[in-house]
Amino acid sequence: MSTIARTGATGGAGMLPELVAWSSSFEHDRAFLHEDLLGSAAHVTMLARQRLVEVQDAKALRDALLAMHAEATAGELALPPHEEDVHMAVESELGRRLGAVAGRLHTARSRNDQVALDLRMYVRAQAATTLRQTADLCAYLGERARAERDVVLPAYTHRQRAQPISAGLLFGAWATQLSRAGDLLVHALDSCERSPIGAGACSGSSLPIDRALTARLLGFSRVSLNALDTVGDRDFALDWTWAGARVLLALSRLSTDVIDFATSEFGFVALDGEIAAGSSMMPQKKNPDMFELVRGESARGVGNVVAMLTLVKGLPTGYNRDLQEDRRATLETGPLVQGALRAVSLSLPRVALVPERCAAALAEGFTQATDLAEAMVRKGVPFREAYKAVGALVRHAVDHKRSLASISPKVAADFHPALDAEALEALSPTTAVHAKESEGGTGPRALEAQLAVLREHAERLRKRADAVPTLEAIARAIAKEPLEG
Ligand code: ARG
Repeated sequence: MSTIARTGATGGAGMLPELVAWSSSFEHDRAFLHEDLLGSAAHVTMLARQRLVEVQDAKALRDALLAMHAEATAGELALPPHEEDVHMAVESELGRRLGAVAGRLHTARSRNDQVALDLRMYVRAQAATTLRQTADLCAYLGERARAERDVVLPAYTHRQRAQPISAGLLFGAWATQLSRAGDLLVHALDSCERSPIGAGACSGSSLPIDRALTARLLGFSRVSLNALDTVGDRDFALDWTWAGARVLLALSRLSTDVIDFATSEFGFVALDGEIAAGSSMMPQKKNPDMFELVRGESARGVGNVVAMLTLVKGLPTGYNRDLQEDRRATLETGPLVQGALRAVSLSLPRVALVPERCAAALAEGFTQATDLAEAMVRKGVPFREAYKAVGALVRHAVDHKRSLASISPKVAADFHPALDAEALEALSPTTAVHAKESEGGTGPRALEAQLAVLREHAERLRKRADAVPTLEAIARAIAKEPLEG
């Protein structure tokens, strides 16, 4: 078996086997094997075009790399297991297949720019998948908001019943928060836009390479600016973990709402048996475990951001082996966030609102006190005066153990002449909701306008995700690129 990592290629012939094994990143960076193969195929294409490698040799190398890529896609590529990382494993396998010509591949390249390339391509694909799922969930939440707009429930401030809202405003709030996280995924994608390959170990190459060509073949719009910065730059990975954490944060807060609203204390939503877990002891339980797990798992998303921040904060400029530790946080983020998005996307359609319980929480009328005061303002009463009169009316109702809604116009008039039958109509939750047509408000037209913005936002996120080239498309483009000319 070839042992490049410990011999010629890395000059590490004397390194203790136990330390080679301990310091190996292969177990983790196997994850971007596809990216590594395509990055090398693009690199060798460029080397041929620049006459740095004979066309025949380049063709043999590129064919072998693309064949290995196809084998990897089919799950049939076996790599030598004891290498220091995926880059050395690929080079070693190439040597096994082609012999000495494999030694030409690493011309004008270092593993420092190579790993920066692989990781960027990997993050780009993961961020695109995550963005697509995020956009789809935003779109679903917007549709659900429209479907549920006639259900009225209390909005909470300080976790106390505050004011009546359309359920559409709640679904819309979840969508709005999630779409902001989507914007951060777009930012993470933008951070991946510059190709690092060609930066070399830290200062570029004395050979006449064409960085724009490899960038184009690999789907980057530009090349990175500064070689020394490039090999130590993990800002894109940091942005990715941060964007992932923000998606999880949005899902976590949504989950808390669902968990609370599913309690018998609230009872605003009912969980379908397909998403509710039982208790091993209490036969009556229908637990919101999926939402609790999403909330719990978001802790790891936060942890990954902290890990990345801490990893890079004290590093000197340039490449440092510490950066190999970027792998855990970066690789974990995709499955973590995508799993949570999937769990919420599957669960939410199986969470039904219970309109009677929502309505019952508003029936006493106290949550409509502000709406009553605003009805008086519409009659010309100064707000502070209306606020005091309604406050006194509320106290009266409480003292007499009555609901605000049951106070007659005759009694109300004692508190203020503007508190007539017309003003008291504001105590109907639906009337109160319909009256709030200020921009961003819960009134039907205001809500419809928000939902149109959300729909457009979700489409924009989706388009950005779809603009990211797939690895298959990249492989096809490389295969077609002439080796001379
Ligand atoms: N295994 C390394 C990593 O994953 C590859 C780069 C190593 N570079 C080096 N000069 N040792 O970051």
